[in-house]
Amino acid sequence: MPNSNIPVITIDGPTASGKGTVAHKVADRLGFHLLDSGALYRLTALSAIRRGTDMHDEHALSKVAEHLQVRFHGGHIYLGTEEVGNAIRAEEVGNTASRIAALPGVRQALYGLQLSFRRTPGLVADGRDMGTVIFPGARLKVFLTASVEARAQRRYKQLIDKGFSANMDGLLKDLQSRDARDTQRAVAPLVPAEGAHILDTSAMTADAAVEQVLSWYRALGH
Ligand code: CDP
Repeated sequence: MPNSNIPVITIDGPTASGKGTVAHKVADRLGFHLLDSGALYRLTALSAIRRGTDMHDEHALSKVAEHLQVRFHGGHIYLGTEEVGNAIRAEEVGNTASRIAALPGVRQALYGLQLSFRRTPGLVADGRDMGTVIFPGARLKVFLTASVEARAQRRYKQLIDKGFSANMDGLLKDLQSRDARDTQRAVAPLVPAEGAHILDTSAMTADAAVEQVLSWYRALGH
């Protein structure tokens, strides 16, 4: 099948909107591959932190992104031979990821890698610019939102479940500054793609959101 005929569902939205969980479940239900594009920015951040890369040096950061030794396997994420699935979820890594994601060189360096996830029978791609920049021809585009309070609660639970410490006030401030950076940056800002279905999940379980996405997909004749 030519690559452009392989179906893609994009799920974009702000930090902690539940995209990751919903994307994962939708991919499982359809037997599709999954692209967690945020993980690529987090992996670049983790790698740069460990190497002591200057966080203002766009060229050096782009090189880190270009040479990421990343492997996704059985729900695990490896950087080289090390499993880093939990390490990349630390808030410091997320904050650094959000800063370096504003650099065009870093985004460009990760472009080809993201496209390579489009394989049969299909792909669910989760991020900020999946429907606008990376897969503008996607069959279905979804934009997930939730109130900042609902998102802070979810992030709090996620961090505690992973054994990190967390503080609600700090998290709220972090979410707000991350929202501001994601929506105001010059390249690939966070906006709903044209034709995207908007889904506010503030008062919705992840499973209900999954059913809604699947019903939109079925309505396209799949
Ligand atoms: O956990 P959170 O939802 O904040 O982030 P993530 O999806 O793991 O992504 C980490 C960071 O990478 C985000 O804060 C975004 O700034 C950035 N990102 C991006 O710019 N473009 C994407 N397609 C995905 C993530």
